[in-house]
Amino acid sequence: MTSYSFPPEFVSDLRSRIDIVELVGDYVALTKAGVNYKGLCPFHGEKTPSFTVHQGKAIFHCFGCGVGGDAIGFLKRIENLSYPETLIRLATRAGVDISPYERRRGSLEAQAKARSEREQLESAVACAQNFFVRQLQGNLNGNVGHYLQKRGIDPLQAKNFGLGFAPDAWSALKDEMGRQGIDEKVAVAAGLLVQKEGSNRRYDRFRDRLIFPIRDVGGSVIGFGGRSLGDGEPKYLNSPESPIFNKRRLLYDLHHARPAIAKSGSAFLVEGYMDALALYLRGVDNVIATLGTALSEENVGAVKRYTNKVAIFFDNDRAGKAAAFRSLPLFMAVGIMPDIVLLPDGVKDPDQLAAGLDDPGLQQALAQQTSLFDFFLQDKGAGLNGYNDRLQFLREVLEMILRLPDDPLRGMALRSTAETLRLAEEIVLDEYRRVRQYRQKYPARGGDRSSSELVSAGGVKGVSSQATSRTGTRPEEMILATFLTYPQLYNEFANDYLDLVERQDCCQLCRELAQGSGGDDGKALLQQLAGSGDDDSLCSLYARLVHLPAPAEDLEMARKVVCDCLVSLRRRQGHEQGRNLDRELTQCRDEEQMFALLRRKMEIKKSLMA
Ligand code: UTP
Ligand code: MN
Repeated sequence: MTSYSFPPEFVSDLRSRIDIVELVGDYVALTKAGVNYKGLCPFHGEKTPSFTVHQGKAIFHCFGCGVGGDAIGFLKRIENLSYPETLIRLATRAGVDISPYERRRGSLEAQAKARSEREQLESAVACAQNFFVRQLQGNLNGNVGHYLQKRGIDPLQAKNFGLGFAPDAWSALKDEMGRQGIDEKVAVAAGLLVQKEGSNRRYDRFRDRLIFPIRDVGGSVIGFGGRSLGDGEPKYLNSPESPIFNKRRLLYDLHHARPAIAKSGSAFLVEGYMDALALYLRGVDNVIATLGTALSEENVGAVKRYTNKVAIFFDNDRAGKAAAFRSLPLFMAVGIMPDIVLLPDGVKDPDQLAAGLDDPGLQQALAQQTSLFDFFLQDKGAGLNGYNDRLQFLREVLEMILRLPDDPLRGMALRSTAETLRLAEEIVLDEYRRVRQYRQKYPARGGDRSSSELVSAGGVKGVSSQATSRTGTRPEEMILATFLTYPQLYNEFANDYLDLVERQDCCQLCRELAQGSGGDDGKALLQQLAGSGDDDSLCSLYARLVHLPAPAEDLEMARKVVCDCLVSLRRRQGHEQGRNLDRELTQCRDEEQMFALLRRKMEIKKSLMA
């Protein structure tokens, strides 16, 4: 991702260009009341409006929950964005060009080339989408029309959702690409045409399929999923990975579900395109789906941006349950405790559920939810009898709980664990502390021993990771502490840092430091952080770092410390990516994607060895 560095003048100019009433009005119904506008606060539940917007002063304030700020603060909070992301969004809205503030990485030409490659791919895909939609509307009396009918989708709905049809031909789309002047090589790169290796022959990838357009979060079509109309294999054929189509990052129809998720404060996560579509057609809009791949960390991060309340709604079979359980640690790591929708026996998937019920019945069925974590405990743990199995399971669960960033959630999860395993809470807590202690010593999770092996091996040995200081500070924090003392290093390393570190608080602090507000003693920054209200964790992180002993005696040493820490972070990221890929590989059903995954694995292996 391009990163930007915005000077203060830019920010104040941008602020003055945004009409706060218009911005807030996108999210809240406002009515004029004197000089102010009033509405129901989007940040807490209320029945009488105590949320006010002052157009002249360009600020908002809620007398109910005390939240307030300017346009930037509003958008940042309601969309759960980082500060730079918020500025980018506002700039786009106001039509302000941000390219002058891009941090240059690589040559300008390389950047321009990448941009124009993306644009070409995007226009090839847009052309294909247009073609597929026309084909569907022109073939409503043919097989695809019957198929729609069979699945209960009327032609108007199909049109509204941008569904398309790829005709049963080898060069229908290819010919269209020719007519529209689109380079066949670009169409191949976009996955629309297939080129046999070692030959020049190119043909349509999607043939005789109902086409589901896949859009990015801005609503542009970037790829397709094609459902075979009969029993043809594979059942769904997807666009292959490309510079504009990355399945790990994408969630099907997030762009559509976004406002509904914001409004309802919750999201359903389903497995299939059809499941998502079927629910939309029944008026349930806050639905997103994975793209036939295992849920990735990126997916979870994207969901977290919009809501903490997620209901997993997978197929009613062993595979669906296993996939739900696999998603649990990912969600917990970002502080989400998802629910699971329990389908009635005999109902295969959300699509079937939606088809078989009237509105009240559907609402009732959707409300049949329980905590996925509790469900997991019951399903996997309650029936265990052997002492060893139960101990092993306990430690596995404690590792999951350890990932939770919030104490209250941890407390609740520990209590449920104790109850389900019929153990005294103190015992569970004791064991939790031991696991935690182990994890503090061995924070890296790459192929190392699990705490459960460790505890059975009889104790923690003190091998400290190379880039972890005597104080037990983690590399991502160590670097920030070094930046605090040696701000000159920031320019050199901040981009690498932001690329490698996933912890939100660390990245945000890094960006704040970049904006120079750290000053000499950092007091101003601390005050600013404390004043911004929602950044308690940032404040405490900052305070902790300031009080660390100096990480290096001089600039050269400091540079070395940062380099060491970056190496350690890079390795950690590599291991993590390797594990994610393994997980995806076990779930992958698409041959093309499998090769892409294997290739990536090789690359990561190589870079880890370097
Ligand atoms: P399902 O097999 O559960 O599909 O796969 P479904 O939604 O029930 O499909 P219908 O109702 O039979 O049409 C769930 C998802 O897995 C991916 C697709 O994203 C699909 O929506 N998938 C499935 C593939 O990518 N390829 C396949 O061959 C099958
Ligand atoms: Mn189905």
